[in-house]
Amino acid sequence: MKTLFKMDMKNYADSDTRIRRPSARAVIRVADGRLALVYSRKHQYYKFPGGGIRDDEDHAEALAREVREETGLRIRRDSIREYGSVLRLQKSGRQEDTVFEQENFYYTCSAETAAGRQNLNAYEKESGFELQYVHAREAAAMNKACKVQDDFDLVMSARDTATLEIVSGLTPEPSVSMAEFLLKTAVKTNPGPWEQHSRYAAESAGRIAERCPGLDPERAYIYGLLHDIGRKFGISGLAHVYDGYHYLMELGYANAARIALTHSFNLKDIRDYIGKFDINESEQEEIRAFLAEIEYNDYDFLIQLCDAIAKADGIVSLEERMNDVKSRYGYYPQKKWDRNIWLKKYFEEKMQEELYQVVGAGV
Ligand SMILES: [Fe+2]
Repeated sequence: MKTLFKMDMKNYADSDTRIRRPSARAVIRVADGRLALVYSRKHQYYKFPGGGIRDDEDHAEALAREVREETGLRIRRDSIREYGSVLRLQKSGRQEDTVFEQENFYYTCSAETAAGRQNLNAYEKESGFELQYVHAREAAAMNKACKVQDDFDLVMSARDTATLEIVSGLTPEPSVSMAEFLLKTAVKTNPGPWEQHSRYAAESAGRIAERCPGLDPERAYIYGLLHDIGRKFGISGLAHVYDGYHYLMELGYANAARIALTHSFNLKDIRDYIGKFDINESEQEEIRAFLAEIEYNDYDFLIQLCDAIAKADGIVSLEERMNDVKSRYGYYPQKKWDRNIWLKKYFEEKMQEELYQVVGAGV
């Protein structure tokens, strides 16, 4: 089965005990394009019907049983087709030194129209599981707005949210809660001023996007939070760009991954990078090829600009931040400096407002 994405939180040790729980999940389309989904009244999110595969079951059996229990629907066995798999790997929320490893196998199928009675276990009853027919896009949006989850449930619902987006033909985007969780988890492995820097970049990106037609402030905020996520893997130079890109790509968040890469190159030139070139030649080539292939969009520009006005202790002027970088690294390429000034003008024209007013820079 093809892999859709890999929700590997990388928040555990290799020596931790692994609990493996493969599961089968159903993508059931009904006539008008809606999906048959399970809604949790308690947690207010949608999930695909399905669950754990027992030792004595094959996937189709498990799929039919779980769908029947959670929704009362009978699926048509001959309609079952592979859709894709998602591996979820995460530190257990319930046991010490344990990793929860769940291979989720998604299948498309159809069901008999009349639903029978559900047969819920204690947890499902308590969660208030009910069958609802909803468009995938709508369900994904609802899931993202839902805030009241613990970390374990958050990642579980993020898995189905991303799958819902893929089903509706969209590129998965993390929710604000998921982005917060990723940053919080990353900072645990490598604490540092980059956390506050990322938060200031996010805040200013959100404020600027609010004033620019066509830009989504929430997406801008999320990209700001995640642009330096590669720092999760240690104190690094160019490696943070490369690692951040691959980490987010693997999670399925391709748009956020792109920002983790483009934010460092406002002139699309890897040679302008200020800091250590701590990745090998073929990795550098990968970055060069990626940059050569894409046209920058307003989100790329926006995070480049916000990265250049966000320090760890606040939002400052471009000159202050660039001089700060210059004093730490000994240089700042003039062309890169001028490009930042161009970015400021670019967004001021769009906003019809002065940048430092909008972001509340201390200048
Ligand atoms: Fe960065």
